[in-house]
This record gives sequence, C-alpha cells and structure tokens, in this order.
Amino acid sequence: MKLVLMGPPGVGKGTQAARLRELLGSVHVSTGDILREAVQEGTPLGRKARGYMDSGALVPDALMGELIGERLGRGDAGEGFILDGFPRTVEQVAILDRVLGRLNLALDGVILLTAPESEIVRRLSGRRVCPSCSAVYHLENRPPKSAGVCDACGSALAQRRDDTEEVIRERLRVYREQTLPIAEGYGSKGLLREVPADGDPDTVFARLKAELEG
Ligand code: AP5
Repeated sequence: MKLVLMGPPGVGKGTQAARLRELLGSVHVSTGDILREAVQEGTPLGRKARGYMDSGALVPDALMGELIGERLGRGDAGEGFILDGFPRTVEQVAILDRVLGRLNLALDGVILLTAPESEIVRRLSGRRVCPSCSAVYHLENRPPKSAGVCDACGSALAQRRDDTEEVIRERLRVYREQTLPIAEGYGSKGLLREVPADGDPDTVFARLKAELEG
C-alpha cells in the first residue's frame, strides 16, 4: 500500500509507522529521520535544515521536494511506502503529486492520527530516542529495560533538540496553520481516514488495522 501518515507532532506517527511497516512490508519514509541523520552527519542538507528544525519551523519546500523526489525514486518505494511527515504544506502536496505522477504511482490513502494537545505535550516531553538506531522510547509509556540505554543497540538515549516545551508549542502552531489544512484537500479526494490516537500503542494500531481492512 502507498500511504501518507499525518497528524500533529508527537501523536505517534513514527511509533505506528514502524508497526505498519511490519504488517504491510512497505518502506517507512520519515522525512524527520532523514533530516536528523543529515544534521548528525553534517551534510549540506543537514547544515541548511538544522536551524529550521531547532526552532520548530518547517524546512523550505524546495529542499523537501528534492529530498522526497530522490527517496521515492529509489526502486523500493514502488512496492509500497508509508510517508511519515510528508507532505506538510499545500505546496508539498503538489510536489508529491508530481513525483508520484512521474513514477506512475498513486496514493491508496491518507491516515490522519488525532489526539488532545495535552496528551501530545506529555508524549513529547517524555520521549527519549536512540541517536544510533533511531529507536523511540517514553519515560513512562515505553521505558527502556535499563534506564537511559537503548534496548536494541546499547547506545545512550537522548532527548530530541526540538522536544523542549517552547519548541513543542511552536511545532503545534505550525502544524495547525500549515499542515492541518491539507487534510481537507485529501478529504475531498476521498483519500482521508481519521484515526483517534488516544490510548496505548496497541489500541491505536488495532484501530489503524481495522481502518485499512475496512
Ligand atoms: P518530524 O520528525 O516529522 O516530527 P513531528 O511530525 O513533529 O513528529 P514527531 O517525530 O515528533 O512525533 P511522532 O508523531 O512520530 O510521534 P512518536 O511516534 O515519536 O519532524 C521534525 C522536524 O523536521 C520538523 O519540525 C521540521 O522542522 C522538519 N521536517 C520534517 N518533515 C518536514 C517536511 N515535510 N517539511 C518541512 N520540514 C519538515 O511518539 C512520540 C512519543 O509518544 C514517543 O515517546 C512514543 O513512545 C510515545 N507514544 C507514541 N504513541 C503512543 C501512545 N499511543 N500512547 C502513549 N505514548 C505513545
């Protein structure tokens, strides 16, 4: 399946995309993960993106267009993909349409995950990530077996630079202003399916599965 997974920061897109990847055998394309890797490696893309990401702003559409065109152009995406974090603006919707048209591919659906803002802030404030393998934890909801250490690869866990309260509020504002409006467009094309993301990850995944099978 070729899916877009959208929703506010911290709603659980990455958590659910990892499960969907297992279920569907599709490629998981997280633009946030690709950008963070570029920042960590100090590539030209990473140097350009860093300031935007640290302040909670969006990276410019032109840069994102190059990134997504290159990523989806690799052969593996033709079999199916889960786009996590893209598109995020009206212009990015148009970019995605152009890229998919060029590759002769079409979206099967767009899933919008929703949760109350208080829950989102709680999830993001308690999130810890592994800088080496990108595994995601939560201090209360999904703690690692040994405090501060990644279960998967043993690296020291860290807090994302954009998970401070001030930057979280800015990311939520940007989401409401620039990203949420694109859901309406997908709705009018009959592609949008809204899935409540309150409840634990298993509950949310069961809802997602039911929505995809329904
Ligand atoms: P990105 O990395 O895409 O961040 P985001 O959209 O803000 O989403 P997050 O990764 O913060 O959250 P998530 O929804 O994946 O939640 P998660 O599963 O981790 O983007 C970062 C930045 O990159 C942007 O601000 C922008 O600058 C730039 N960028 C990226 N794409 C761009 C684009 N297309 N255009 C321009 N700029 C772009 O879960 C969060 C926490 O909650 C975890 O700790 C998890 O364990 C926990 N959790 C998850 N589900 C549940 C649950 N059901 N119950 C309890 N806890 C849960």
